[in-house]
Amino acid sequence: CGIVGYVGFRNAADILLDGMKRLEYRGYDSAGIAVNNGSEVQILKEIGKVQQLEDIVSARHVEGHLGIGHTRWATHGGVSVINAHPHRDERGQVVLVHNGIIENYKELREELIGQGVEFVTETDTEVVAKLISQIYSVKGDMIASLVSIYERLRGSFALAILLKKDSDTLYCVRKGSPLVVGRGKGEAFCASDVPALLPYTQDIFYMNDGDIARLTPQGINFWSDKGVSLEKSSQRVDWDLSMVDKGGYPHFMLKEINEQGAVLRNTMGDRIKGEAVDFSKELGWSQESFAKIKKIHIVACGTSYYASLVAERLMEGMLPIDIRVEIASEYRQRSIHLGEDVLAIFVSQSGETADTLAAERLAKSKGALCLAITNGLGSSLAREVDHVLLLKAGPEIGVAATKTFTGQLAVLYLLGIYMAKLSGALSSEEEGRLVKGLLKLPYQIEEILERQEMLKPIAEKYASSRDFLYLGRGRSFPLAHEGALKLKEISYIHAEAFAAGELKHGPIAMLESDIPVVIIAPQDSLYEKLFSNVVEVRARKSPVIAIATQGDSNMKDVANDVFYIPSTDHELYPFLAVVPLQIFAYYIARARGCDIDRPRNLAKSVTVE
Ligand code: G6P
Repeated sequence: CGIVGYVGFRNAADILLDGMKRLEYRGYDSAGIAVNNGSEVQILKEIGKVQQLEDIVSARHVEGHLGIGHTRWATHGGVSVINAHPHRDERGQVVLVHNGIIENYKELREELIGQGVEFVTETDTEVVAKLISQIYSVKGDMIASLVSIYERLRGSFALAILLKKDSDTLYCVRKGSPLVVGRGKGEAFCASDVPALLPYTQDIFYMNDGDIARLTPQGINFWSDKGVSLEKSSQRVDWDLSMVDKGGYPHFMLKEINEQGAVLRNTMGDRIKGEAVDFSKELGWSQESFAKIKKIHIVACGTSYYASLVAERLMEGMLPIDIRVEIASEYRQRSIHLGEDVLAIFVSQSGETADTLAAERLAKSKGALCLAITNGLGSSLAREVDHVLLLKAGPEIGVAATKTFTGQLAVLYLLGIYMAKLSGALSSEEEGRLVKGLLKLPYQIEEILERQEMLKPIAEKYASSRDFLYLGRGRSFPLAHEGALKLKEISYIHAEAFAAGELKHGPIAMLESDIPVVIIAPQDSLYEKLFSNVVEVRARKSPVIAIATQGDSNMKDVANDVFYIPSTDHELYPFLAVVPLQIFAYYIARARGCDIDRPRNLAKSVTVE
């Protein structure tokens, strides 16, 4: 879900709707706003996108300089106008929006019902509104009431709250779910994420778990969850508004795919000196300190997990250390040995994924050295770990991750090289070879992007298929997963990925003329085996779309369609092969008329477990 709050001199509804549109990637099954005009609080809600709500708001007179807004991704309670936020207490004195899940809401609901409180929705959020109202009616002081809230609520919550009787104060609390506060001249803002605020301010306070904030046009004050006043300093974010515009592209996803050359340049930038990788400033590790690391765990979800799996295959070839890659939701449930000899790397675009955060907290509590690779400066993950390596990819708005995959891969590769060097396992010649290859990648990606339209007719040819298989070997195997995930996410076509070596152990039984197979077959050491797979698939009449290396003249004789990528070192092919996979999925989704930037049922940042 996405939250926006405003207090100041402008028309609150305009700011809220604008900010909510920029947060729609966080959820878009319903939306609502509440605006306090000094005499009443108007609440308007609608199911569907923010645009639908905007149509309603513009038909009414919604004026006032204090307001809160919410775009929802349903967890408790179905998608309906009544379940949409904001929610309020019975008398409409306390109105709030919420992102997160209240674990003990049933208990609290029963307790309040026992005291005669009536409920109109099934949501956990209504419980919070009514609980705050009840505490406030006793304490008469909002900060003291919010301190109590931290004692009563279990689970995760970011809340923006307004009171009917006070038309120039906005309150915020956060635990688990993200919330930032922005400062302007004579105005203040809050939001789940920075892009919502960029048109108005770059002066941002990142709220910590347990913080309470009071925002008025005159200023912003903070307290701890114990009610102790806090001095917080703001940070200036160097993102600008152009980064959250489509920049002439029809979709954010296409824009972000096309930014990948630049993302690689930024991400590698000052981490490469000459022909050497240098993380000394960011990590401050020495050969001695690194020597105590005996195991590396890489933990992530979704696309970040597939980037981690690609990197694992690079690292294991260079590092004399055991490496395992785990899905965060599994990692945290298992009994994996964790201790001071473990380096636990958490890879997360947003830095807010609930499962990844929970996994990190577990590893930290067991003494592991924790490192985050994230695009989320100021994110919960970034603030909790021992070391952070930023992607420098700029905001990613499209729900399907693209440029952050490439950025993650770059940081993981550089880190792998750096760690191999620290453990004395990588010669400077090898390092030089890899670095030279890495530095060429942005240009090679841009060369692929110049030919992106060639994938359009191929995608259109297969756009009505019901099922797809994706095959790869070695580093291309996790890439096959990533390609299939992109297709599933934005086109809703069933797509499955297999290690090509597993084809004969089952999947081959599914092959028919209407099941296209995407095969990632770059010219690496596994090429010949993959070529045989292409032949096997064709013998079962399934059409093959191959990603092959320029100069591979045999592939076009067997595959139905071939997209060529430039030649690079065998370790580096994933950076290039992923690009046509992203574009292919994009054009298929476009041919099917899907809502590419906001695919159904998905949220960009999953802050619930
Ligand atoms: C969600 C998104 C995916 C993303 C995953 C992990 O499911 O829809 O695109 O890969 O979360 O997100 P993270 O921010 O932790 O990388």
